[in-house]
Amino acid sequence: MQSVDGKNFLNIAVFVSGTGTNMQAMIEAGVPISLIVADRPCKALKIANEANISTALIERTNFGSNFDREEYTSRVLHTLQTHNIGLVAMAGYMTILGNSVFKEYGGRILNTHPSLLPLFKGDRAVKDALEAGATETGCTIHIATNELDAGPILAQRAVPILKNDTVEILHERIKKEERVLYPEVLKDILSGNVALIS
Ligand code: GRF
Repeated sequence: MQSVDGKNFLNIAVFVSGTGTNMQAMIEAGVPISLIVADRPCKALKIANEANISTALIERTNFGSNFDREEYTSRVLHTLQTHNIGLVAMAGYMTILGNSVFKEYGGRILNTHPSLLPLFKGDRAVKDALEAGATETGCTIHIATNELDAGPILAQRAVPILKNDTVEILHERIKKEERVLYPEVLKDILSGNVALIS
């Protein structure tokens, strides 16, 4: 399954905004990554550069209510097409993209989320799980759609919530699982063990 819709399926772009530990786990697991895309200068870009992987900083400068999401998304789309990307893996990417990218890459954008979806959607997932008094939470690898944190689920892992957990401690326990699960899912897709719907 090397070519889907004229795109080279093996060309994977990983989207990051922060520390990039999931991206690093993919690199260490031998997932072939063609491009790292970031929406802001971040540690993940430094790691990508050190690993000699091509990077694209498509900087988002406007975080206000008048942010032109579609214009930003068209810049992202152009970059993906220029690099002949077939599959996108969002790993801590903090910008919600507009419709055009989901039209063009529908079913081929993955995301990791730090909760057992459909529980605790959104960017406060770890805090919300703690505040809800849940006894467990976890991580979900899913297909991203234009509805936030709602696309088809590919894999999940549960982690316990322990007495005295802080957001930071609990998030790190979740990320430990994400860093194993996400590369596994990507490898399963590349080997054809998990099929994506195009
Ligand atoms: C992960 O927990 C991911 O689920 C969330 O952001 C975190 C990214 O961590 N959306 P890192 O940048 O990979 O270290």
